[in-house]
Parts: sequence; C-alpha cells; structure tokens
Amino acid sequence: MQTIRVDTPSARYDVFAGSDLLATLGSRIERVTGRLPRRVFVLTSPEIWALWGEALEQSFAQPPIALFLPAGEKHKTLSSVERLARQMIEAGGDRGSLLIAFGGGIVGDVGGFLAAIFMRGIPYIQIPTTFLAQVDSSVGGKTGVNLPNGKNLLGSFHHPLAVFADIGVLGTLSERELRAGLMESVKAGIIRDRALVRYMDERAEDVLARDPKALEKVIAASIRMKADVVSRDERESGLRMILNFGHTLGHAIEQVTRYKALLHGEAIGWGMIAALELARQRGTMSTAQAKRMEKLIHSYGPLPPLDLRAARLVAATGSDKKNISGVRRFVLPLGIGDAGVVDDVTSQELHSAAEYMLAQARAHPA
Ligand SMILES: NC(=O)c1ccc[n+]([C@@H]2O[C@H](COP(=O)([O-])OP(=O)(O)OC[C@H]3O[C@@H](n4cnc5c(N)ncnc54)[C@H](O)[C@@H]3O)[C@@H](O)[C@H]2O)c1
Repeated sequence: MQTIRVDTPSARYDVFAGSDLLATLGSRIERVTGRLPRRVFVLTSPEIWALWGEALEQSFAQPPIALFLPAGEKHKTLSSVERLARQMIEAGGDRGSLLIAFGGGIVGDVGGFLAAIFMRGIPYIQIPTTFLAQVDSSVGGKTGVNLPNGKNLLGSFHHPLAVFADIGVLGTLSERELRAGLMESVKAGIIRDRALVRYMDERAEDVLARDPKALEKVIAASIRMKADVVSRDERESGLRMILNFGHTLGHAIEQVTRYKALLHGEAIGWGMIAALELARQRGTMSTAQAKRMEKLIHSYGPLPPLDLRAARLVAATGSDKKNISGVRRFVLPLGIGDAGVVDDVTSQELHSAAEYMLAQARAHPA
C-alpha cells in the first residue's frame, strides 16, 4: 500500500492506494476519525453495492446506513442532493455524522457536495471504485453537481478526511472504463512525470491486464502528481490549471456529442492528441516527442471514432468553463513531463490542431 499526503491551506489528509483495503476499511477509517460517530452513511449506486457492498459492510462492527444514487450523469443533480439529505435527516443524521462516498466520480462528486452542505458541512471519506475516480476525482476537494446548462456548474471545495483507493475493486470495472480512466494517468505523466510516462510505455500490457503491482504503481504515481499540484494550488489560481491538459478540445468533443458518445477519458485522449499537435506546431515539443506521446495514448485506446467538424469544435471551445472573462486558456505540453498554461492560442491554431485530431480519428478506427 502507498500513502500519499495532500496538504493544502484548508486541509491535510492522506490518500491510501493498495490491494485489499475494503476488508479492513472500518478500522482504517476509525484510525482517521477516532471513534466512529453514531450515524455513518455510505452513498453508493445499486450496481456498486451489489458487487462490493458486502465486502465494505463486513469491515464495520455496525454497518453504515446505505444511501443510493442511480448511475449516470443525469442523476448528478441538486434534486438528488436534496433527496439524499432528506433521507439522512429521516435516518437521524446530524452535524456529527460521517458520510462515505463509495463509487465512481459521480458518487464522489455528489457525496462530496452533499457532505459540504449538509448542516453546513460534515466530514466525508472517499472510497473511489473507478480508475478515473481513484487517480483523479476523489483527490483535490472539488465537489459538485450538474445543471441543465452544463456540467459541474454548482459545487464547492470540500476535501475528504481520507481517500482509500482499493485496487481490487477495479477487477469488476469494464475494459472500456479502465482504458478511459488510464487516459488520466497518461495525462499525469505528460504534464508532470516523465518516469510515469516511461513506466506506462514499457508496462502497458501488465497495466491493461490489471496486474495489481503495475496498477498500484500507475495509480500511486498519478495520485502523487495530482496531490502535489493541488497542495501547491488548491483553488486553481495557477498551477492546478495544468490538470486541464487535453480538456479544451476534449470538452468541446463532449459538448458537441452531448456527453453521450464518449467517456470523459476518451474525449480527453483525443483532446491530448490535439494539444500535442499544437505543441509540436509551436515548437514546445519535438515531432518525435509528440509522436511518441500520441503512440502512448493509442496504446491505451482504442479511442472511439469522431464524426465531427473542426469548425464546430472550435466554436464549442468558446464556452469552456476554464475561460475567464473571455480569455481562452490552453494547457501546452513543454516536452515530456512538463506543461504550462498560455492564453494566446488563436482559433486558427485550434482549428488546425482539431483537423489533425480528426484525421487521426479517421486513421485509427476503433
Ligand atoms: N471532482 C473532480 O475533481 C473530478 C475530476 C474528474 C472527473 N470528475 C467527475 O467524475 C465523473 C465521472 O466519474 P467516473 O468516470 O468514475 O464515472 P461514473 O461515476 O459514472 O462511473 C462509471 C461507471 O462505472 C460503474 N462502476 C463504478 N465502479 C465500478 C466497479 N468497481 N466495478 C464495476 N462498475 C463500476 C458505475 O456504476 C458507472 O456505471 C464525472 O461526473 C466528472 O465530472 C470529477
């Protein structure tokens, strides 16, 4: 097991990544919280509970009270939060209660937001069960829900007391979800960790075969990168923006396809390919480096095909949530293992990067 510290001005906590954490979760949580409160809630989805609920329950002397959120972005809403809060009140929840978010990024984001506003804030623990949630969404304190107008438009920063990433639970994750989540680790490597890039390059077969040691290595390195960035820039006023590498065109793809055709990681995979091309054109990366990274991305694919127009994608980048006062911010890789944020990327440059990406999509049928 590996322990990674997140240390921000508002919170300090550990992320534990390893095998068989679920079996001993109850006592591990007690080590973090002291004696468990009278009411411990676990927010999960019916699917995850059916697969892993028993394993989680068995590790507690008194099993937590289960609350359910159906799978899917359409349930990541304020009305779900209200329903869950009412259920907590009815079950005797109070300011001393503890919430455990046990699921993928959706459960984590909704659970974190519920904990942030329930009785003006209660503590919570993240038990992420998807690869993406383990390496990305459970770490860093961003919580929130969607509005019909867009994703994650309501939310707050509320850090968990601890995160337990059990690699074993990834055993039931679909191949597609695993590969999409791995794009976040590829991203972590390209922007800040050359050694992770090398490892993922050399050990792709083991990682994709879910070899526990290989997974632990990749997951821990990815978490370490995110924890380090978040610890230096908790509220995304500078450095944390690099985590949005691949997101300019990635988000545009998600938006144009109405979040239906691609998983988030897949859209980011294509977005990274476009950003690498832009970096190559600007000379912040050599052609050889950009090609090598592109090959790495494809080795964790296949990425779904894109039947889209570059002009439409560029237009969609105008509404990127990362833009501030109309200025378009773009994360540009600077070689392998480093990245910076620029705000002078022109529409022509984006168009040309999008064209390149779409040509790649035609050349790499899924
Ligand atoms: N807060 C953040 O910093 C942050 C960062 C990135 C993404 N996110 C959010 O995360 C969400 C996406 O998260 P996600 O990719 O985990 O998707 P998800 O939560 O929808 O989970 C994906 C699917 O996998 C299933 N699943 C989960 N764990 C499983 C397991 N162990 N075995 C089998 N099936 C399992 C779920 O039931 C679901 O159907 C988005 O809403 C996104 O906005 C948040």
